[in-house]
Amino acid sequence: MHDIFNLFKMFTKKLLFISNIIFVAIIFVLIYILLFTGTEMVKLPDDNRIVVKYESDLHKLVLNEMRDYLEVINEIQQGLAENNPDKIVKAATRQGQISLEATPIRLLKLSPLGCKQMGFKGHHIFQAIADSAKVNFKAATTINQLSELTNNCITCHRTYKLSLE
Ligand code: HEC
Repeated sequence: MHDIFNLFKMFTKKLLFISNIIFVAIIFVLIYILLFTGTEMVKLPDDNRIVVKYESDLHKLVLNEMRDYLEVINEIQQGLAENNPDKIVKAATRQGQISLEATPIRLLKLSPLGCKQMGFKGHHIFQAIADSAKVNFKAATTINQLSELTNNCITCHRTYKLSLE
């Protein structure tokens, strides 16, 4: 009887010892996961875009304008959804001829020719969207123009990237 009791004691001691080891091992694995996994750099696709250098003010101006393009596109889409040509005209005009004429000469001087051409093209399409929605609004026309517009965004984004001088 005494022997059995001793055996049982030894057995529980061993069990405790083993479970402590397992516990510590689990803690180490968790610490490893927390500290060392998910921190590796992500693999990016090749980037062959041409770098365009602007000074800080022009850099900010260009990116501000880009964000506004997206807002204008969204407003045009809302105009389409609401069948509201006035909204489309108002939004597209903001980035049409008016915006083109406000382009600083310094920006034009620092921009490569292809970049300038795509920049101009974008403003022309915004203006065309405003003009057709004003004169003879047809949703299909606006949608086609939007597709041509976003295609121009894509081509430029694939070709150029910005860097601060
Ligand atoms: C003339 C070339 C050109 C055209 C056209 C163009 N973009 Fe960009 N856009 C750029 C460049 C260059 C960047 C910076 C990308 C970089 O440095 O990685 C940029 C950045 C952006 C950004 C990020 C802005 C930020 O704050 O970081 C948005 C949004 C954007 N463009 C939207 C548009 C949309 C929408 C259109 C079309 C209506 C458009 N762009 C047309 C060249 C262009």
